[in-house]
Amino acid sequence: MRKIPYGGDYNPEQWPEQVWDDDHRIFELAGIDTLTVGVFTWGLTQPAPGVYDFSTLDRIVERAAAEGRQICLATGTGAHPAWLARSNPEVTRTDFEGRKHRFGQRHNSCPSAPVFRRLATEMARRIAARYAGNPAIVAWHVGNEYGGACYCEFCAAGFRAWLRQRHGSLEALNTAWYTTFWSHTFTDWDEIEPPNALTEHWRGPDHTAFQGITLDYLRFMSDAMLANFRDEKDAIRESDPDTPVTTNFMGMYKPIDYHRWAPHLDFASWDNYPPDDRSAARMAFTHDLIRGLKDGAPFWLMEQTPSVTACRDVNPLKRPGIMRLWSWQAVAHGADAVLFFQMRASRGASEKYHGAVIGHSGRTGTRVVKEVSALGAELELLGSATLGGRTPARVAILFDWDSWWALEMSDGPSRLVRYQDVVLRYHRALWDAGVDLDVVPVTADLTGYDVVVAPALHMVKDGLTERLGAVAARGGTVVGTFLSGRVDENDNAFLMDVPGPLAHLFGVRVDEWDAREATYVNPVAIGGLVSDARLLFELVIPEGADVFGTYQSDFYAGTAAVTRNDVGTGHAWYVGAGLDAAGVTWVIRQALAPHGLLGPYADVAEVESTTRVMPDGSRVRFVLHHGDRPTSVVIPMDGEDLLTGAALTAGDKVTLDAHGVLILRAQSRQNSLPSTS
Ligand code: GLA
Ligand code: ZN
Repeated sequence: MRKIPYGGDYNPEQWPEQVWDDDHRIFELAGIDTLTVGVFTWGLTQPAPGVYDFSTLDRIVERAAAEGRQICLATGTGAHPAWLARSNPEVTRTDFEGRKHRFGQRHNSCPSAPVFRRLATEMARRIAARYAGNPAIVAWHVGNEYGGACYCEFCAAGFRAWLRQRHGSLEALNTAWYTTFWSHTFTDWDEIEPPNALTEHWRGPDHTAFQGITLDYLRFMSDAMLANFRDEKDAIRESDPDTPVTTNFMGMYKPIDYHRWAPHLDFASWDNYPPDDRSAARMAFTHDLIRGLKDGAPFWLMEQTPSVTACRDVNPLKRPGIMRLWSWQAVAHGADAVLFFQMRASRGASEKYHGAVIGHSGRTGTRVVKEVSALGAELELLGSATLGGRTPARVAILFDWDSWWALEMSDGPSRLVRYQDVVLRYHRALWDAGVDLDVVPVTADLTGYDVVVAPALHMVKDGLTERLGAVAARGGTVVGTFLSGRVDENDNAFLMDVPGPLAHLFGVRVDEWDAREATYVNPVAIGGLVSDARLLFELVIPEGADVFGTYQSDFYAGTAAVTRNDVGTGHAWYVGAGLDAAGVTWVIRQALAPHGLLGPYADVAEVESTTRVMPDGSRVRFVLHHGDRPTSVVIPMDGEDLLTGAALTAGDKVTLDAHGVLILRAQSRQNSLPSTS
């Protein structure tokens, strides 16, 4: 790659070919060099059973290639054709309520239906056979935003087969699922039902009588869709051994365990649609999560809106400068592509009001076209300066879909404790401290990190206890919280004191815990401040750990809430209460202090900063200003401002405009990457 690919989803099959001329003219103007093509074209490329027609897709691909644009070519299987749902009704899904769906919407195929699997794979095979070798194609895009779930008979059968694989015998399965409870012992595999509203659930997907069953179904469903992805990828590989294959993820998307998928993607990519314009930290976290899927390798920002979304009840406009700032934020966190949904607005159906680079009128004087063009020019200027860069993180946050699933479907202690909220609160404190961090799975190699934060690590598995222990033993710092070390991989409680296998590391024991409504506060005195703790209060009994925070009210006033255990030359912090942001910040700053990890803008409000280290050893520091008034920052090192060419010296004061971005390449090179990358 010569520069960061820039462009996005392009669906010209929706409008007349005369309009394509305009499209490409505007792309030229805006510096758009990459088009994601064919994401929902199955109905077009296979208009009837056994009939394939690639003529339109041919013209789209030929035109893009002739114009010198790169193509991310989709297999088009994100929605099945209407005729298929009619000829083979088994391709539609059965939902959580047990309702068999008919044709409609998209992302609508049962992942287990043999006819869907066969025909989707065949489509991928034919597309690859037809277009492989076209030098314009830089990536394959399989399906689209895999997600949801199906509870049909094919999925039930698939689940049973998956369970045989996982558990080996009914006896092992009965043990894992704890089926002596409520007379559930299974004596035949065919007695097993998918857990949904007709079987184990009430109120919804988080309320189940058997957490172990639902947990396995979530894993199975994630694997079933992964099998769809892999089928298509294998079919592509029959014609194209090299071009990277991906699918677009959705960030913190609960139904699919992206860690289980990651090894099968050649690079990770995701669609960034934050809930609001106050989500800078959340987006930072999500970028880091996606980068963590492939061991820190660069990912693609596959979609973002240039202006507005359409699917929300209320769809606010991105303010001037925000699209640029958020695009650079993605790059700052490891993106090697900046792509939009979408290049031209649909005329009809549910996304006609969705933002696009080109609106319905085709006008080029719009703010969106101007901002997109300005960013296009900047990306051109930057060239390859950040491509392949890695994040030199010394801090890791553990993120675990199993813990997320298990925690939130647990009956007790509190439905108000949400996994993402806990993770994001700890992340926010790290983000405010300006540290480069990795978000890693619980299976990750932790040897390169000085600080490992494991929020709400409900489930402990995969030898994690030993790896966390080793971090502290060699002088690192581990931070853990309430509701950790509670269950094993089957969601069965450990037959030991809480926090189970982690008790030794944290040097504490928890016999009792209290959960209260969100309005209730039990203050925790900690490090000279009083933190308003809410939702969950574990009564922490030190067993070797030192007490740093204590509850201030109720019958457990004076009881430990926050402790630190000395382990080898390092430390393990345990936070037993739902501390407020100030309390969490205090703990996080304590954890970072021995390692000197505060970023240069740790206390500059709304300024975010990250570093990428390029394959040639050059270091680029991104400084991103999320505030809407100018601010000034001190330059931390000598270097070159890559967007203006200005030479900057350490100690210089620079004014950042509202939503301003500074990209500084350090003068001196560092030869090798830190071991975490
Ligand atoms: C998703 C899809 C796109 C489009 C956008 C709209 O990310 O992948 O096809 O629907 O949402 O925001
Ligand atoms: Zn199904």
